[in-house]
Amino acid sequence: MRRVTLCAVALSAALCGILNADEKLSMSDADKAMYAELLESNPAEMDVAEGEQLFGDLIGSEAYAKVLGVKEKDLPKHIAGFPRYVDSAKKVVTLAQTIQMAAASVGKPVPKLESKEMVKMSAYVKSLANGQKTSIDVKANKHMAEMHKLGQQVFEERRGGRGLSCNSCHSTDIVGQRLRMQPLPDLGAKETAAAGTWPAYRMTQSQMVTLDKRMQQCMKNALLAEIPLGSREMVALEVYVTNKTKGNPISIPSVKR
Ligand code: HEC
Repeated sequence: MRRVTLCAVALSAALCGILNADEKLSMSDADKAMYAELLESNPAEMDVAEGEQLFGDLIGSEAYAKVLGVKEKDLPKHIAGFPRYVDSAKKVVTLAQTIQMAAASVGKPVPKLESKEMVKMSAYVKSLANGQKTSIDVKANKHMAEMHKLGQQVFEERRGGRGLSCNSCHSTDIVGQRLRMQPLPDLGAKETAAAGTWPAYRMTQSQMVTLDKRMQQCMKNALLAEIPLGSREMVALEVYVTNKTKGNPISIPSVKR
């Protein structure tokens, strides 16, 4: 019965084929215990500490603040508003991209977005805004408005072999249902708090993962071609998803399944 209801709202035969509403728990008791333990002592804390070291050696807050055009003491507040339009880049960028810009500005090798170092540094930089509320402003200027619109398009576009979109699994009328034991998360919900909680330690991968990589993992699972990190479409997705949980507190690194 539940399955029938679900398929009626899913509007996608392909999704119905892989959804299983009968399975019960998303986490076994053992997994729940592990989750609680990880919350107590999150292994990604060490990555963030390494990120601080790497960031200090590569750039430092002073040079970083300069690239962003803000005072060093205002960094936490400013960081909480990413992705944002940055004058010197002439486009909307993610925090990881600002680290690349800052490295270039001090004449250092530019770390790749895919690199382990970048994951650690971007987690450290975002953690400077811990306790602040995510404050993305998609109406700040036309660039942000455009990227938000593009992000929504990418989010809703059906692609891949199964004709799925992000929205097939994350639309408000389907969230809470289960896909292969996993509840489909409402990206805008307080408990999910997607914007303020990535980079996060993923239990299932035993490593820290960034928001864009997390989204690539969804694409891979749903057989959608992976949108490259740093591309206009990926940044737009990050804008769109971040805006869904605007106002939630930033807490890096968090723990996710
Ligand atoms: C086939 C269903 C499906 C599709 C399609 C899908 N997702 Fe997901 N997504 C999930 C499930 C299930 C989870 C939670 C998995 C878990 O708990 O480990 C998730 C988790 C996420 C999260 C992490 C939420 C958090 O905890 O903060 C983000 C962000 C996300 N998806 C974004 C996307 C984007 C962007 C797309 C489109 C490119 C997409 N998803 C497509 C099923 C899907």
